[in-house]
Amino acid sequence: MKKVNVILERTHNNSIMNKFATYYILMLSVLFFFTACKKDDDKPQAPDTFNPTPYIIEIPYAFPSNMNIPDDNPMTVEGVKLGRYLFYDGRMSGRTHPDSLMSCATCHLQENSFECGVNHPVYIGGFTHGICGKPTPHVMLPLINLVWNSSGYLWNGFISSENPLPQYRNIEDLVWMGIVAEHEMFSDTNTAKQTIQNIPGYPELFKKAFGSDVVTVKNMSRAIAQFIRTLITSDSKFDKYMKGEVQLSQSELNGFVLFTTEEGADCFHCHGGYGNPLFTTHLFYNNGKDSLFTGEFEDPRDRYHVTYDPMDLGAYKATTLRNIIYTAPYMHDGRFATLDEVLEFYNEDLVWSPYINPLMHHIADGGTLLTPNELSDLKAFIMSLTDTAFINNPDFAKPDKFPDE
Ligand code: HEC
Ligand code: HEC
Repeated sequence: MKKVNVILERTHNNSIMNKFATYYILMLSVLFFFTACKKDDDKPQAPDTFNPTPYIIEIPYAFPSNMNIPDDNPMTVEGVKLGRYLFYDGRMSGRTHPDSLMSCATCHLQENSFECGVNHPVYIGGFTHGICGKPTPHVMLPLINLVWNSSGYLWNGFISSENPLPQYRNIEDLVWMGIVAEHEMFSDTNTAKQTIQNIPGYPELFKKAFGSDVVTVKNMSRAIAQFIRTLITSDSKFDKYMKGEVQLSQSELNGFVLFTTEEGADCFHCHGGYGNPLFTTHLFYNNGKDSLFTGEFEDPRDRYHVTYDPMDLGAYKATTLRNIIYTAPYMHDGRFATLDEVLEFYNEDLVWSPYINPLMHHIADGGTLLTPNELSDLKAFIMSLTDTAFINNPDFAKPDKFPDE
């Protein structure tokens, strides 16, 4: 794979440019001199304290350079820092009693690639549960490499730039939704912002990040979204292999070939791979799990209920396979408990329906029909997408102290 991101550094050795620059600097100094003299010395101007530092995302090897960073929420060091506090602060739920706290991080845990994992207290009977015990309609999604997702969030892509309603368009919007959703924090935005406003230390952080110490839901959302956009995983064994730093085992290499060939396991059309290091297309497909989608089998949260295109019945986001080992159970409804069960399904349990995506090329055979050895190679390859540096990265962990501590 070719390295796509080359940083060009140019030295300005053009003498006309140099002369122009000197002239320009001179003019600026003169201008500054005059404006400085004009100032009323008796009334010192308030220093402009709003001067956030840009947060530069280093694009990992072979990753795309186009990112989902809205114009009205540029990445700043101060914004990311504030966002990390809020993401982990249980008082975001608007409650101050320690027993009833819930933060984004209650469900989105770093150790599980920002899903909750099956051994967590909020995970009961296959689903995560909100603060008052209501289950989330689907299982979780990991918060990884989302800065490269411009095609819609949630299993059905309901949150997207195409949504006619402006409050449902980007990661920012999942913050207020998380605060009010009955199956998440079940609070209200006024209580949440008031609670944060009253915690010593926070107003100052808002001022540094956004220029005002008045806490608003908009700025809470901006900060958390900035933090989420920093959650980048790009240091798996497979990444190191692509950079030529390590070799994959024979089994992992065999699995890679199976993954990326149509006659093999044929996973790459929807889950990326060679040429798509995100390991997702971020698009929506019906991958052949069921045959009935109406009546009692209707899911009001599949892709169809976003687009109303019948071909989207039973379609969901083809999630990234990076760090997939941490994010059981699998599929939007968590029907498979282990990765082995998922591979078994693709191998021999595909179900035909008029809505199955045409990219499920092996449907006529009921599956990919790999041998047990091939299946274990495929699994070994998928496991090579595991990034332990990511789940241990201290920058993403719970801060040692909150602003008032
Ligand atoms: C009760 C557990 C829970 C809590 C608390 C929670 N989430 Fe989630 N989150 C989920 C589940 C479940 C999904 C998948 C929902 C779906 O698609 O139906 C999700 C999805 C997301 C997504 C979309 C990921 C993608 O790839 O599309 C983002 C972003 C997100 N949550 C951010 C947050 C933020 C920010 C907070 C705090 C304000 C938060 N979550 C609190 C359970 C939770
Ligand atoms: C036609 C597109 C398509 C193809 C081909 C495909 N998948 Fe998927 N995959 C999906 C979709 C869509 C989902 C989510 C479906 C759902 O949640 O109901 C998914 C889900 C998964 C999941 C679970 C993800 C999670 O977070 O729960 C795994 C693992 C997976 N696929 C692996 C594979 C492997 C391995 C192959 C090749 C054998 C493959 N997929 C081929 C579309 C596809």
